[in-house]
Amino acid sequence: MAELQEVQITEEKPLLPGQTPEVAKTHSVETPYGSVTFTVYGTPKPKRPAILTYHDVGLNYKSCFQSLFQFGDMQEIIQNFVRVHVDAPGMEEGAPVFPVGYQYPSLDQLADMIPCILQYLNFSTIIGIGVGAGAYILSRYALNHQDTVEGLVLINIDPNAKGWMDWAAHKLTGLTSSISEMILGHLFSQEELSGNSELIQKYRNIITHAPNLDNIELYWNSYNNRRDLNFERGGDITLKCPVMLVVGDQAPHEDAVVECNSKLDPTQTSFLKMADSGGQPQLTQPGKLTEAIKYFLQGMGYMASSCMTRLSRSRTASLTSAASIDGSRSRSRTMSQSSESGTLSSGAPGHTMEVSC
Ligand code: BEZ
Repeated sequence: MAELQEVQITEEKPLLPGQTPEVAKTHSVETPYGSVTFTVYGTPKPKRPAILTYHDVGLNYKSCFQSLFQFGDMQEIIQNFVRVHVDAPGMEEGAPVFPVGYQYPSLDQLADMIPCILQYLNFSTIIGIGVGAGAYILSRYALNHQDTVEGLVLINIDPNAKGWMDWAAHKLTGLTSSISEMILGHLFSQEELSGNSELIQKYRNIITHAPNLDNIELYWNSYNNRRDLNFERGGDITLKCPVMLVVGDQAPHEDAVVECNSKLDPTQTSFLKMADSGGQPQLTQPGKLTEAIKYFLQGMGYMASSCMTRLSRSRTASLTSAASIDGSRSRSRTMSQSSESGTLSSGAPGHTMEVSC
């Protein structure tokens, strides 16, 4: 009997004819911790924050975010915002390899570079979207500059410093695995890696053959040496803005994100666990993530319901939430996405919004 194999299908919805990607402009600024490169898409919109992204280890802004930002349904969101995509130092395309002995910035120092970028662009507030190390960096930035962060979408965040058990496991893995395999194990689940889909082959190829692999290792070391963010529910160290935590239900960082959710302010935090999703939902499920981001922005008052896509309307999308969608955030929200219906629904009974306009 033929064996049934599970195949992970990546959502695809390219730009429509006439939907051309906006022109990008790449800049570099000097900061106390070295130069940082970022790419700006779109033009600043009055009274709106910029969307600022920060990518994970092993990636750059394009390999991390292009699938999401060029997804067809994402266009009606991002056309309302200027976007700033930061490349961690040495990760930008064509970056030269740092000289031996170069002191790569810590994640805290990478966060401290962000004000230089915003000052250069004359932008006052942001909505951050970060993955992995990028999610940590944006959280650290938000802790230090809370007045400038209107919202955060944090994918695969691990706010904890490595404990000695993690270090021991890391060292043991390092004895038998290459840096690129360790980074792939950080980005993707073991099931995804052994499934060796086209996506995995593509990212394995990108990372293994990266001309800046030595730089990537430096960013990886900074990630592994991160300090604890020390989030504490009800304590002083917490994110004050609306936060959407995102993790795939088969992601390597699922437990860390669940724990992070338990430490943040439940009135400000939504938790989205994506069904049938591995380590990089922004690559494999850009459609579902787009829809969640749309609801998140709508909750912040940035997406009028008239902007809901035909996609959402035809699905009669329902967001069941313990808080209302109008921005009044009274209780914690947990959203779990059903892969079949594409709806967002709450684990707990509560206010239900039917979108049909
Ligand atoms: C954007 O439109 O913001 C974008 C386009 C390509 C890659 C990443 C982002």
